[in-house]
Amino acid sequence: MRTQVAIIGAGPAGLLLGALLHRSGIDNVVVEQRSADYVLGRIRAGVLEQVAVDLLDEAGVGARLHAEGLPHDGVNLSFGGQRHRIDLHALTGKRVVVYGQTEVTRDLMDHRRSLGRPTVYEADQVAVHGFDGDKPWVTFVKDAQVQRIDADFIAGCDGFHGVCRASVPAGAITEHEKVYPFGWLGLLADVPPVNHELIYGHTERGFMLASMRSATRSRFYLQCPLTDRVEDWSDDAFYDEFARRLPPDAAARLVRGPALEKSIAPLRSFVAEPLRFGRLFLAGDAGHIVPPTGAKGLNLAASDVGLLSRALAEFYGGSPAGIDTYSQRALARIWKAERFSWWFTQLMHRFPENGSFGERMQQAELAYLVQSESAQQAMAENYVGLPLA
Ligand code: FAD
Ligand code: DHB
Repeated sequence: MRTQVAIIGAGPAGLLLGALLHRSGIDNVVVEQRSADYVLGRIRAGVLEQVAVDLLDEAGVGARLHAEGLPHDGVNLSFGGQRHRIDLHALTGKRVVVYGQTEVTRDLMDHRRSLGRPTVYEADQVAVHGFDGDKPWVTFVKDAQVQRIDADFIAGCDGFHGVCRASVPAGAITEHEKVYPFGWLGLLADVPPVNHELIYGHTERGFMLASMRSATRSRFYLQCPLTDRVEDWSDDAFYDEFARRLPPDAAARLVRGPALEKSIAPLRSFVAEPLRFGRLFLAGDAGHIVPPTGAKGLNLAASDVGLLSRALAEFYGGSPAGIDTYSQRALARIWKAERFSWWFTQLMHRFPENGSFGERMQQAELAYLVQSESAQQAMAENYVGLPLA
């Protein structure tokens, strides 16, 4: 098989890149190690910034998002038993849209199928070759046969544990990492949201987040020790703990229902530099991870592939300038999102190792934030995100 761009990974980064390249008339093949159902079963992010909405529109997959997504004009911070609203729209003129990553992925998959663009699911032993020259290729095993795709470029959209970043020679890449000493336990259930907007809470028992997918489906998170196992958390234990961490007015509205999904995600900040190695590009979680507190992971994946698709379109239009500056331009956005996600994570979680002084500083910082219009403005601008250009 021969294509222009071989895309490794059918998560949101890979599928959106494929759709954007298609719009520019650039041929592409997606190679994914899992099944389509497995990819759709992973419950992850839920908040889209305008930049992601615009790119999904540009790719021609925005219809259901506009019909079913929930525009949110504000988010709430709770601490010390009080709730404070950050008015995103009044402060920035922008809003975010609550629409699950699963739905984004489903829309992209349906669109790709309707275009007839090829996606190879359940590809084993995916390997990337020759990207330091000008004729890279990809190999994998499918139905017990070794297959090969020759390409002009390889896009590594294969997530944090993927093969693309791991295939770069160690001396060519620098990795910056911070691992946090806790995780998020998430629960998805068909119960109404406790509030019409998200609530991020800092409590002496740890962080909580009350999010949603629709008027009838909620997504709740609790900070938990990394040593916890999902099996040890019954639904009742989850709801009991969640109710203790919610502000009282919201706790009174909490409706319990059986978990559709429950999982623990570790928290990490990570950036690989650069994001281009000859004819291999990294995009999305393959190149960077943010802790989920700022809801940036999916949005960064979208903005990376927005930049990469434009760079590749420029290349096929005769100019290498875009691919030469992709890494630098993407990293400039990534480091801003890393800073915000790190700051918001430090602000909202419980860090017993920082002692009572650390806790009082968090309280003082939260009090400052809700009293200072300029501090709220900075937070709101970061939360709603930057335009692509
Ligand atoms: P992924 O979605 O990881 O997709 C990569 C794809 O590549 C996967 O389908 C994978 O199967 C495939 N792949 C991997 N290796 C190979 C290989 N060798 N060959 C072929 N294919 C391969 N963000 C938030 O904003 N809020 C959240 O609550 C949140 N929760 C998260 C929970 C978890 C457990 C994780 C892992 C991430 C979470 N994120 C969250 C982050 C957000 O979901 C990611 O930033 C987003 O999925 C990035 O998209 P991606 O396409 O770059 O990577
Ligand atoms: C969700 C996840 C996040 O990490 C976040 O900051 C907000 C919402 C969610 O899954 O709904």
